[in-house]
Amino acid sequence: MNPTEFNIPADRLPALLRAMPKAELHMHIEGSLEPELIFALARRNGVTLPYASVEELRKAYAFTNLQSFLDIYYAGASVLLEEQDFYDMAWAYLERAAADNVVRTEMFFDPQTHTARGVDIGTVIDGLHRACADAEARLGVSAALILCFLRHLSEDEAFETLEQALPYRDKFIGIGLDSSELGHPPEKFARVFARCHELGLHLVAHAGEEGPPEFVWSALDVLKVERVDHGVQSAKDPALMQRLAQDRIPLTVCPLSNLKLCVFPDLAQHNLNTLLDAGLVATVNSDDPAYFGGYMNENFLQTFAATGLTAQHAWQLAANSFEGSFIGEEKKRAYIERLDACFASFSGV
Ligand code: ADE
Ligand code: ZN
Repeated sequence: MNPTEFNIPADRLPALLRAMPKAELHMHIEGSLEPELIFALARRNGVTLPYASVEELRKAYAFTNLQSFLDIYYAGASVLLEEQDFYDMAWAYLERAAADNVVRTEMFFDPQTHTARGVDIGTVIDGLHRACADAEARLGVSAALILCFLRHLSEDEAFETLEQALPYRDKFIGIGLDSSELGHPPEKFARVFARCHELGLHLVAHAGEEGPPEFVWSALDVLKVERVDHGVQSAKDPALMQRLAQDRIPLTVCPLSNLKLCVFPDLAQHNLNTLLDAGLVATVNSDDPAYFGGYMNENFLQTFAATGLTAQHAWQLAANSFEGSFIGEEKKRAYIERLDACFASFSGV
């Protein structure tokens, strides 16, 4: 399909962005914990929070960089103890995803954040996986899990986590790498990624969020990732841009996250259009929507309003999200047919 065939008036663009089917490929489920749910779970579990109220907690969401966010994000996750807590958190996100016409989501989770507090990894994975299964049945959202290793911890600890997770191998589709990027280059995790590759897991990693293009190169060449999470710093390196375009390596870009963590001074200066115009498989994602001011559609709406991206770009971003997802070719084709039908209904063709 060539979306330029469709003549969509500019004032219909926001409705189109909301309505179009899309995949989310970069969101941390712990980053979907809204302050109200944090307080409800704290009450349920008898956990004392260092904030007196929802309002006070929300006021603390003024971040200057990735680390200033991570400190609060890990504190918020401390209310999660029981399987039902993980289910409730994931279900709340999945309902919001469905409302945004997300038809496929690949959700990150950080087991080490929970096992460090004495929560069994099975409690985490079973609760999240049950919500994923219900989402397919009750919301028509296809949902899968990606286990992330915390890069500020050691590779030995990542191996330990992998061992603990293996009895649940059928409940997650891949592994990722997140947390503090600066000072923790991808190559620190070369051996554990190689082992996960042998196990048939999909491989992704955060790289080039705050870190330099060299980290994107090593995510590709050392970790052998299939997708790069964020990757926006790649635009500083023309050879890397060429490599990403040539190998059709998806970048899971998170515009509101980049804004809130001061990666770009404002959304108008975000480089999403540069990435798209260079032919990269760039996608839009929410990262930690409860902390960064919006879920999927809010990311699309605010980014398009600020940068002047067009309906053509919208089609490309949604098509890229399906191309970059870890689903079979037949399902990808079916989603893109749904995307085309949505565009056709907006253009009146
Ligand atoms: N964990 C949750 N959100 C993250 C982000 N944006 N970067 C790295 N680690 C994260
Ligand atoms: Zn992230």
